[in-house]
Amino acid sequence: MLLDADLTGRTVLVLGEAHAARRVLRRTAAAGAAVRSVTTPSALAKLPDGAIAGVDLLAVVGDDPAWQTALEALHARGRRAGWTVPLVVRESAAAPGGQIILVGGGPGTTELLTVGGRAALREADVVLYDRLSPWEDLAELTGGAELVDVGKRPGHHAVPQSRIQELLVDHARAGKTVVRLKGGDPFVFGRGREELGAALEAGVPVSVIPGVTSAVAVPAAADIPVTHRERSHMVTFVSGHAPLSDAEHHHLAGLVTGGGTLVVLMGVGTLNQLVAGLRRAGMAARTPLAVVERGYRIDQATTYATLETAARGALAGATSPAVLVVGEVVRLGRDCPDEIALAVDAVTGAVP
Ligand SMILES: C[S@@+](CC[C@H](N)C(=O)[O-])C[C@H]1O[C@@H](n2cnc3c(N)ncnc32)[C@H](O)[C@@H]1O
Repeated sequence: MLLDADLTGRTVLVLGEAHAARRVLRRTAAAGAAVRSVTTPSALAKLPDGAIAGVDLLAVVGDDPAWQTALEALHARGRRAGWTVPLVVRESAAAPGGQIILVGGGPGTTELLTVGGRAALREADVVLYDRLSPWEDLAELTGGAELVDVGKRPGHHAVPQSRIQELLVDHARAGKTVVRLKGGDPFVFGRGREELGAALEAGVPVSVIPGVTSAVAVPAAADIPVTHRERSHMVTFVSGHAPLSDAEHHHLAGLVTGGGTLVVLMGVGTLNQLVAGLRRAGMAARTPLAVVERGYRIDQATTYATLETAARGALAGATSPAVLVVGEVVRLGRDCPDEIALAVDAVTGAVP
């Protein structure tokens, strides 16, 4: 859209009803233009010639034919008075009522933000975001939306979930398009269904745009596939938010021994308990593990271990955010050390 170009020093006249034109007005101002607006075709007809003289661009919002008629009249007026009508661009109107869009932002790079996610951000009046989403580029992706950080980070208290849900509903009820931008996918350890539920309960229009989950994408950033023919034919996503029970450790150890992969999110704080629990559950000492920290960031790092070396502290330096992978697929990872990549296969006993 032309309005995404640098418009510094330009004057743009936006033609459209205030609510429908609010997104175009915001983006035009964010692009550096001096913005004026006219909300009805009859007001355009009454504009003095002098008011049109300094305009570089006319942006018509929506497809109301009354604007086309008014523009034709303006052309006729210009021909009579000896001036030309500025360049005209067409822009779509913002949604008429308020709405909530839950957007999966992927693991933190705009490269992995979906086309649908980008389109929703362009429509947004307000964005409530987490720090695991591609938040650093939001000013550019939205063009002037109100940006609200509701995530946890050092020295900043996370906004409670109930308050986030209230904010979503309040903004939508005020007629705004509110995007809830979350890291990864909203429905993978993301509390997205709670936010969807709050919107449904409030009777506010809501939609979900899935995202690229870190559970798959962060291992992939280290070349680790979460499944691989003849190595792993199932994958289990585990929350490491709280320590697991012994029964759960047994269950997970059985899944890996049976040819599966475990992918643990939020697992840095409970890593020691997980490793000890899997050992107690009888998982083979040579089972490989990898921790991929800060996937897709400039300082992304991958550390490899076996269950045995992890128990001796090989992964002790890992920090959040990180994704932990357990299972034979780890041996395929980039720069996996030979002693792990070529170790005796924990499942089959064969050297891979
Ligand atoms: C609350 S969960 C949200 C997961 C998200 N809904 C998803 O689908 O990716 C947060 C966890 O995701 C993982 N995570 C998200 N982005 C990451 C990244 N760029 N690098 C490493 N881990 C990441 C970490 O395990 C982190 O603790």
